[in-house]
Amino acid sequence: MKTGFGGKIMFPVILAGTLALSACDQPQEVPPLGTAQQMMANEVQPTAEIFWGAVGAKSELVDGEAVFTEWQPETDAEWDEVHAAAVRLGELGEILKTPAYAEGRGDDWMAYSQGLVDVSAQASEAAMARDPDAIFEVGGTIYSVCSACHRMYPPDVLPEGMTVDDIAQPRPNEETPASE
Ligand code: HEC
Repeated sequence: MKTGFGGKIMFPVILAGTLALSACDQPQEVPPLGTAQQMMANEVQPTAEIFWGAVGAKSELVDGEAVFTEWQPETDAEWDEVHAAAVRLGELGEILKTPAYAEGRGDDWMAYSQGLVDVSAQASEAAMARDPDAIFEVGGTIYSVCSACHRMYPPDVLPEGMTVDDIAQPRPNEETPASE
């Protein structure tokens, strides 16, 4: 009776699989990084923040005196991290172009996603050149690419007091030197 026992175990498993498949009539591509919202919150924003936070400047009052602080990647490891973030943004742009994220959107969606791919190449170049000014500048371009898409495809619900341009916030670390 060993085989019968095994068959009983297998049957519900196979049935469950069949039901799951037939539940969606058309085969749909499973979004690899969750919904667009999840992908933005968990992948795109944190990756952009690494890039935006890499180079910055601030001035503050210390004992009544203005102190100006600038920061940029110093070690190989720090530069590598910035470079990796630049490359990752391009990969995310490619993923945005896949049907899982692009389906049902206009052609402009493809253009905005490609914009991320293109700016990622510039970002990667700036990181390879270890050029802090270029990193800062490309950071601004990245932000316009994010915002352009958000203006056309805003979230259904914006948090109170926020505009679309607040969604992707550039250089959030501007207040905090990287050395801290
Ligand atoms: C091709 C279009 C597109 C590009 C490019 C894009 N986004 Fe988005 N983003 C969206 C869409 C669509 C939403 C709204 C998702 C939703 O709420 O359904 C969104 C929402 C967000 C959100 C809000 C997530 C949340 O928790 O609700 C953040 C943060 C964000 N994007 C960051 C970025 C950053 C940073 C960039 C640039 C590096 C960027 N996005 C580039 C399409 C894009």
